[in-house]
Amino acid sequence: MQIISLFREVLEPDELILDDIKMATYTIDWRKRYQASCHCVLRPKSLGSLQKIMQIAYDNCITVTPQGGNTSMCGASIPSIENSVIVILERISKIRSLNTLDRTVTAEAGIVLANLRSFVREAGFYFPLSLASESSCQIGGTIACNAGGLNVLRYGTMRDLVLGLEVILPNGHLISHLSGLHKNTTGLDTKQLWIGSEGTLGIITAATLKIYPQVNERMTFLIACDEISQVLFLLQKFQFEYMSELTSFEYMSLPVFQLSQNYSGICFGLSGQHFVLCELSFDDKKRFDKDLLLEQLLLLGFSNTIVACSDKESQRMWQVRENISEAQKNTLGISIKHDIAVPISSLQRFIENTEMKVKSEFPDATILLFGHLGDGSLHYNVSLARDRTNGVYQFEEQLNRLVYTEVIKHSGTIAAEHGIGQLKKKWLSLVRTEQEIQIMSALKKAIDPKNIMNPGKIIPD
Ligand code: FAD
Ligand code: MLT
Ligand code: ZN
Repeated sequence: MQIISLFREVLEPDELILDDIKMATYTIDWRKRYQASCHCVLRPKSLGSLQKIMQIAYDNCITVTPQGGNTSMCGASIPSIENSVIVILERISKIRSLNTLDRTVTAEAGIVLANLRSFVREAGFYFPLSLASESSCQIGGTIACNAGGLNVLRYGTMRDLVLGLEVILPNGHLISHLSGLHKNTTGLDTKQLWIGSEGTLGIITAATLKIYPQVNERMTFLIACDEISQVLFLLQKFQFEYMSELTSFEYMSLPVFQLSQNYSGICFGLSGQHFVLCELSFDDKKRFDKDLLLEQLLLLGFSNTIVACSDKESQRMWQVRENISEAQKNTLGISIKHDIAVPISSLQRFIENTEMKVKSEFPDATILLFGHLGDGSLHYNVSLARDRTNGVYQFEEQLNRLVYTEVIKHSGTIAAEHGIGQLKKKWLSLVRTEQEIQIMSALKKAIDPKNIMNPGKIIPD
């Protein structure tokens, strides 16, 4: 109660959410994996209010979890200890400027990704970060997670798109460096600390981001294969033939493709074991030739292909890809999720070995394998017939150990794009050295000496 009155003194009534029912939206994560409690949810409407919140939190050692769209897959956006407040950014969401000569947009952290993308599109440009969660997740959240998504092959992850940042430190001080410079070699690039920091180093309030010319033409197509080796062969061919145009190379295994087609009420009538949704985007109209592409695919032996003939058909293909997580959650219930990556050259061996091991320890497992295969990343989700409720988490450690052992054997990572959050912190030392973790802890201590920013995330206890 006393904590609430501290915030009440400096904020307007509509900047505090105290009602238990309203707070419940913010205290449970998207997967319904983590349930937290908090004193209150704060929804500041200005940077001034946000700074006051942080000053109070700092002076009184109140822990703060910043929250964007609350779409984190690893419990990063949910407090993991008592005595916390959640700060939501939805009202700090203005577009501050668009500079077409610098090719930048400067936007506040709370803007929803899809809204930023439409704003940029209406201005005649293109903002490439695209995720299935884009109608909920926010720019601040995607920076704090270094989100990847569907267009990484051509445009990179969020880290590659951020030119400048504005951040409120744990003690309430503002660092604003919203530079539109595409080059700036002046010592350590400190903004990189906040990209991927998962709310542990302060609150991101705005960013200057790269924008691109709109692409002239796109080709979207679905290809069915019988063997995973064919998928990899295709990727290799495309990387040579269409290197600068290859924008998305998304993989879906048969169970995933079927599940999402059924859920979406769409059927492409393709048969195979492995499916690729590929998108090429062309700046040079002369290279845009659907007939040539089909001919090339046929020559390579890929006859089971559908090339989208209209925007509508392309959207239907993307719908099947983007509905996977919803389909899985709403049809198969709770599953054990992994967001891993291995070098593309090791993918086939990894997939085969891991499947063998999972099936031998968990004969009732359905492996839901899909992901951004073009950059080596896979969502390795496992559904167990014996339990489709939260009870399945009793098998999580055993399954994680099994999957992560194979990941490490194949020089991969346990978190390709979703981050560490609270879910994976105990596994961090598998993929980062002791010295690296020490550096992370030292930086955390230097920037957040009272450990008030989203404690219990990333760094192992
Ligand atoms: P939240 O979930 O609210 O927060 C995530 C983390 O960022 C937390 O640690 C939080 O404390 C911190 N944070 C949030 N806002 C701020 C801020 N302003 N300042 C400092 N810290 C902050 N991820 C991918 O990378 N690629 C995908 O393809 C992808 N697809 C997804 C599909 C679905 C259906 C869903 C539900 C999620 C998907 N994700 C994906 C995961 C998730 O959407 C992204 O990681 C996204 O970046 C999270 O943004 P958010 O605004 O929801 O952040
Ligand atoms: C996606 O690529 O659709 C998400 O990152 C998926 C997920 O793990 O559910
Ligand atoms: Zn993903």
